Amino acid sequence: MIEVENLTKRYRDRVAIDALNFTVAKGEILGFLGPNGAGKSTTMKILTGFLPPTSGRAKIAGFDIFENPLEAKRRIGYLPETPPLYPEMSVRGYLAFVARLKGLGGAKVKSEIDRVCAAVGLVPEIDRLILNLSKGYRQRVGIAQALLGDPPLLILDEPTEGLDPKQRAEVLGMIKGLGGRHTVILSTHILPEVKAICEKVLIIHRGKIVAHDAIGAAAFEQGLDETFIRLTAE
Ligand SMILES: Nc1ncnc2c1ncn2[C@@H]1O[C@H](COP(=O)(O)OP(=O)(O)OP(=O)(O)O)[C@@H](O)[C@H]1O
Ligand SMILES: [Mg+2]
Repeated sequence: MIEVENLTKRYRDRVAIDALNFTVAKGEILGFLGPNGAGKSTTMKILTGFLPPTSGRAKIAGFDIFENPLEAKRRIGYLPETPPLYPEMSVRGYLAFVARLKGLGGAKVKSEIDRVCAAVGLVPEIDRLILNLSKGYRQRVGIAQALLGDPPLLILDEPTEGLDPKQRAEVLGMIKGLGGRHTVILSTHILPEVKAICEKVLIIHRGKIVAHDAIGAAAFEQGLDETFIRLTAE
């Protein structure tokens, strides 16, 4: 579903990601881990077509994100690090706006809004202004807009950021339920979250891949703990 080849991004003299190579299979949930500044958001912005790479390429479902952006983007639901919410809109109004941007129309707009709000537990807040929602519920609106239109690939940049432990567990459970039918990449700083819901983990550090493997094998998990502790202590 995702093919990344020698993907590199430089901001002036700073190398944010350095010749990344990886693939994500259809239906896989990939946990994208790394300390602050590792390059997670940069990678996700490139995969979603928001940022051009300095070199290298990325394909989504076989479509190059820069040569064929419409075909690629049509297949992606994206939760950016800072979701572009309009605080003066209601949850319903905002989701209807995003649904139309995604090309949905007519009765499909309402049915999709109802579906995604149920999926992220937003139904009781649906007629409130985004402005008045708590941070966790605003985050849920961000996730809900990514789910609109049921895209096969979800790229979620820190989807559990700002959520309380109960909401965290709920959102993780919901994301886990998307696996199989959807391909998901989610970034987080929390290793247990990755272990709870992901089949695979990719750790980056200073723009380079330091681990990419399937979760499950005890030896790998122990190595993962050690790698992650070492990186975050640096
Ligand atoms: N617009 C920008 N201009 C210059 N440098 C940038 C820009 N955006 C990111 N960087 C740099 O690129 C590197 C990777 O940043 P990125 O935001 O991808 O990290 P991250 O893994 O998402 O970190 P975090 O966990 O803090 O969200 C950092 O060194 C950062 O300072
Ligand atoms: Mg980030």
